[in-house]
Amino acid sequence: MSTTLIQQVEDYLAATLLSPQGAAQHLTGKVSKHELAPFLGHISAISASYISHSVGSKLASPITGAQAAEAYALYYTIINAAKLLHLIPSLSFEREEISVLDLGSGPGTAGLALLTALKKSIHLTCVEDSPHMRKVAERLLSRYRSTGVLSKLSIMPALSSRSTDRYDLVIAANVVAELDSVEGERAFQSLAERTAPGGYLVVIEPGQQQHTRRLMHLRDTLLSKNTEFAPLFPCLRRDSCPMLRLSETDWCHGVIEWQQPRLNAHLDDLLSFNKHRIKYSGFIFQRGGVTPPGIRALTPPEKTRIGIETLVCGEDTFGVVRIRKGARSEKNRALEKASVFDRLLVSQPLQGDDAEEVSFSKP
Ligand SMILES: C[S@@+](CC[C@H](N)C(=O)[O-])C[C@H]1O[C@@H](n2cnc3c(N)ncnc32)[C@H](O)[C@@H]1O
Repeated sequence: MSTTLIQQVEDYLAATLLSPQGAAQHLTGKVSKHELAPFLGHISAISASYISHSVGSKLASPITGAQAAEAYALYYTIINAAKLLHLIPSLSFEREEISVLDLGSGPGTAGLALLTALKKSIHLTCVEDSPHMRKVAERLLSRYRSTGVLSKLSIMPALSSRSTDRYDLVIAANVVAELDSVEGERAFQSLAERTAPGGYLVVIEPGQQQHTRRLMHLRDTLLSKNTEFAPLFPCLRRDSCPMLRLSETDWCHGVIEWQQPRLNAHLDDLLSFNKHRIKYSGFIFQRGGVTPPGIRALTPPEKTRIGIETLVCGEDTFGVVRIRKGARSEKNRALEKASVFDRLLVSQPLQGDDAEEVSFSKP
């Protein structure tokens, strides 16, 4: 993920949301605590509401007014944009103009990430039920209208059940977490139905155990009801999730190492928060796509007394793979060096936990 793109998005957020004095301070260095003070209480309250929310119930929105929505945009938008920027390289579009549906768009987070990173013209539909968030989204996104990359922008409070529109890219980022169990399943299905043939469905959730396990359940339901959808990331199999079946606690998640942009790091200091690494969970599905071959590392390779161990998942494979001491070689180097969610090709199906005969390579 490009550090420049991230800083570019943050600079734009600062320029649009801070006072002229605050924006000028951001350009030359650190924004004063005095300028940030009005946002801090809102960010703390939003964070507290996310932490205390019980998963599977409807979240009472912490976005209680215009300044709360701006505070969300100032702190959370860059973090969530970073998650999307991390996943965007897995998507590929042939057409010059793509249509995007963003459910629970908040202040236009996904739109900002896509408009900054994709060299495409985007027809963007944001669905957001908070009027305060819709206002901030309008402010943040509308400047792209004049640049030609945003060919059309619609920001609406709800999805119309009568609409037959289909989109090249459907995104739901950190929104299913706010819905109750029934709504969450309905939303997932409705998003799947709105994904065009060849289009992608990207769902990102907060990097927390309970939200992620719920997302893993929703992934199972989606794939069992919609046979034309192929998982692309991180799953490399379309049967029910073995991690969910075999463990009551494990959760399939990744960590993004980023160079935290400076306003976000400063807000962390003032709030005693810590986002220097971003935990996330997310899935990419493609309607009519083909799941890539191989396995994915789900945990960082760990040195144990016996050798090096990594949990992997792929077609017909789920479990810990071990490279015994003394068996480390060029052919298993790619596994030893794998990061979480790296995809590796294997020379033969993995059997048992011993990988001595198998060669691993990066695609
Ligand atoms: C945590 S924010 C995520 C915003 C943005 N997607 C991001 O990743 O930064 C969730 C947003 O979803 C909105 N939301 C919750 N339920 C919704 C629903 N049923 N329809 C539309 N928006 C909804 C909330 O108002 C909130 O702005």
